[in-house]
Amino acid sequence: MWCGRFTLEPHEMLTKFSESVSFDWRLYRHDIDASIAHARMLGKQGIVPKEEVKQIEEGLENIRKRIDEESFEFSAKLEDIHMNIEKALTDLIGEAGARLHSGRSRNDQIATDIRLFIREEIDQIRLLIEGVQRELVKLSAEHTETIFPGYTHLQHAQPVVFAHHLLAYVEMLERDKDRLSDCKKRVNILPLGSAALAGTTLPLDREFVATSLGFSDITRNSMDAVSDRDFILEFLSCISIMAIHISRFSEDVIFWFSQEVSFIEIGDQFCTGSSLMPQKKNPDILELARGRTGQIIGNLVSLLVVMKGLPMCYNRDIQEDKIPLMNSIDVIKGVLAVLAPMISSITANKSKMLAAASDPALMATDLAEWLVRRNVPFRLAHHRVGRFVGYCRERNIPLNGCSFEELKLCIPEADETCLELWDPKKSVSSRDIFGGTAPRRVRQQLEFWNSKEFMR
Ligand code: ARG
Repeated sequence: MWCGRFTLEPHEMLTKFSESVSFDWRLYRHDIDASIAHARMLGKQGIVPKEEVKQIEEGLENIRKRIDEESFEFSAKLEDIHMNIEKALTDLIGEAGARLHSGRSRNDQIATDIRLFIREEIDQIRLLIEGVQRELVKLSAEHTETIFPGYTHLQHAQPVVFAHHLLAYVEMLERDKDRLSDCKKRVNILPLGSAALAGTTLPLDREFVATSLGFSDITRNSMDAVSDRDFILEFLSCISIMAIHISRFSEDVIFWFSQEVSFIEIGDQFCTGSSLMPQKKNPDILELARGRTGQIIGNLVSLLVVMKGLPMCYNRDIQEDKIPLMNSIDVIKGVLAVLAPMISSITANKSKMLAAASDPALMATDLAEWLVRRNVPFRLAHHRVGRFVGYCRERNIPLNGCSFEELKLCIPEADETCLELWDPKKSVSSRDIFGGTAPRRVRQQLEFWNSKEFMR
């Protein structure tokens, strides 16, 4: 392709070392779409004769079909997907094919292809996230009254309803979707027309190409357009944050499923056994989902390090963006796809959950707030209740295990109505504030989610 300047053929080790077609072939549809838009524009601008544009389009569609059908033979000697397609086109239609690259460089071509690719993947990943959200919302609907222990520091804190906990993850995933949509705004900008780095002497119509490819704008600076990959870094950051949310969810579910906790059961079809211990039922899916976060964060860090220190403009280092990008996409899609049906197989062990949330110590805050309503300053109320908790702990009795007189001893303001505070059900319903865990409020959250398009 550049043999004009060279006297020796590329060494086979160079070919092997520098090729990218073994992974960037996945961009073929985007490459062809962008080439067709470019060719039409060249025709409109009178740079390529109209009949030849038609030949180019037909040739590219023929190549697309062959790649779709897996009958296209990729050659590492041609380095990347762009040269493979261009060579096949020229073999097919001759001179017209050789005109396609007018005013274009692989530098702006690849930047365009990846933007098209990520744009499409964002839409697909968003749909997969919604699949997970849908199952979480459906499971939540069954548990707006299911009393569940809320933790901080993995220590019992206050009772909540199980749905409240599940819907927290729906919120996180919603923000993950928002972040992707926001990222898409910066992805959806056309670099084509920047050529190698400085633009071109040919009278290209960049706006026309942008409109044909559904880009919302064109890049303003050709040097920036071919040399930065911040849009990939941003996308990989979004995926990493999402992976962390999924990893935390997985950790929660693994904990709930542990024998000591036993809050939930997971369907057999989503668990694995042991080759040695016949009794085992393991939540491997969740451990893999948690574990694959490592790859996803690694991919982000890997590209951050590739980009750091690159001088303007295009440098071949940038080719190293694709493996981490594609790997993160594949991993996150795989995780999201398996999580949705796994969640639908979860059943709750309500009595276990209730028992764990029924220790009156979880209602200590309720007592302190009861005192605040009796005009005791909160700090003092906290101290009194703390003393009472200490008193009970010393005697190894639960907070509802001592006499009313003993309660009065620590908390002089107490009266008989305090004794009703030990009920976890009452406790959750009294957290009746927007965003709180009262079943009434949690049902409001559910209504919010149920009204979303993705629940239909
Ligand atoms: N395959 C390259 C990449 O993925 C694009 C080609 C640009 N190569 C070049 N030597 N200017 O980044």
